[in-house]
Order: sequence, then C-alpha cells, then structure tokens
Amino acid sequence: MTTTAQHPAIAPTPRTPTEPSPDLLDYRLVHRAMAVDLDRLADAAAEMASHPDEARLRALRRYLDAVSTEIDSHHRIEDEHVWPHLAALVGDDAVFDQMVADHDSLATQLSALHDLARTGAVAHLAAGLRHLADDLARHIADEEGDLFPMIEAVVTVQDYKRLQRAFRSNLRLRLLPFVVPWVVSHATGAERAAVLADAGLPMRVVHRLFASSFRRREAALFRRPSPSSGDRRTVRRGCRFARMHTASSDAPVAASAVDRSAGARGRPSPTPAVDPERTVERS
Ligand SMILES: [Fe+2]
Repeated sequence: MTTTAQHPAIAPTPRTPTEPSPDLLDYRLVHRAMAVDLDRLADAAAEMASHPDEARLRALRRYLDAVSTEIDSHHRIEDEHVWPHLAALVGDDAVFDQMVADHDSLATQLSALHDLARTGAVAHLAAGLRHLADDLARHIADEEGDLFPMIEAVVTVQDYKRLQRAFRSNLRLRLLPFVVPWVVSHATGAERAAVLADAGLPMRVVHRLFASSFRRREAALFRRPSPSSGDRRTVRRGCRFARMHTASSDAPVAASAVDRSAGARGRPSPTPAVDPERTVERS
C-alpha cells in the first residue's frame, strides 16, 4: 500500500492569497472521462450479457484495458506526487489516508476485472464493472469535494504545472493515441479549446492524428454517438454536486476541506462535476 508519509518529489511553495489559483480543468476532465466511461462500460457489458456479441466484447476488453492503465497511472501520481505535495503544505497526512485506501481497493477491483474480462462470464464482468463504476464515482466526488478546494487554495500555478507534467510523463506512449482523444472527447466545446491549448503541441498533434480512430472505436463499443440516458443521469447528478460544492466554497477553503474529509463518504452525489452540454466531439 502506498502511503502519504513520503516526501514530495517537488519541494512545495505555499501559494499566497494574492496569487491566482491553478486551473484544474484537465484534472476534472480526466476524472469525468473515468467516471462516465466506467459507467458506460458497465452498461455495455450488461447489454452483452443478454445479447452476446464477440466482436463487441473484444472492443470492450481493449477499451477497458486502456482505461484501467490510465486509472492506475493517475492514482500512482496522486499517491506519489499530489498527496505528498499537499500534505507538506497543510501539515496533515491523515486527510489523505482514505484516498490512498480507495486507490488500493480500486486497484484490486481493476485487477480482478482484468482477469474476468478474459476468462469470466460476461454477467460477472458486468456486475464487477458496475461495482467499480459506483466506487470510482464516489471516490472522485470525495476527491473533488475535499481535495480540489485544497489544491486551489494552497498550490501555486507553477507547482501545479509540475504536477501536471508528472501526470503526463507517466502516460505510456503506446496509450497516447487512446488517452488524448479519450479525455478530450469528454470536454464541452469551450473546455475542449482550453484543454487543447494547455496541452502543448505534441498532445495536439496526437489528438489530431488519432481523434477519428478513437471515435470509431468508441462508436463500435458503445453504439451511441451521443450521451445515453445513463450519461445524462450522470450529468444531472454531477451538476447537483457542482452546485453543492459552489454553495459551500465561501468557507475558508483549505481548513474546511480538511475538516470535512472525515464525513466525505456520505456525499450524496457520487459523480464529478460535469457539464450538461457534454458532447462527443465531432471535428
Ligand atoms: Fe484523481
């Protein structure tokens, strides 16, 4: 199990009140891609349990493999870089213990699903994916509700850029043709322009080269060019969560985030903040 007691890889500089807060758009988009697509994968597997389709199942295995690898990479950087960085700034490791425990539990589930996807019954795979999707959505809601306000309050823009580089440099090269268009596909129109501008030229080139093939892959698996009723349900819950978060953000941010962490597990909206205009990009 990874612990948060290790020293941060980057010596943190506390943000002063007059400095701008870091923009967490790319972080939120990665969370949204994970939460929405685990939900869609669970739905797709449930459909295949009643309507077997070998070609579609192969597409699900490949998609799940790529998403799982990205989730593992994302959690590793959080455990090894983001949480230690925050812990050094707020002087409290305990607040991150639940996040680390969640990551361990999610990794165990992902590993079991990896085996199930190859050898198990599709119905079991569907049930496992549903359980994982619900746990991951809850985890992301807790993380965005408790730790994102802390990041915005205490991390400098410069240090956040270093953390972004840690996330991006940990991506496997062979997965970039999937991960880049995958994350961008979960952005609204305005978010898409902003995240691509921030991503840098190499990532924009990867996106331009592979967005079309990603869309074909996505359509072959999910068979819906636009968000499903399940996606819209996720969006509605996300909006409720976003409103709750906005309403509570007048409180002193870092302190309230630390204080609320113990009660975060009861959060009623287990989804990240997502935009109701979320569209599957078509450019
Ligand atoms: Fe995360």
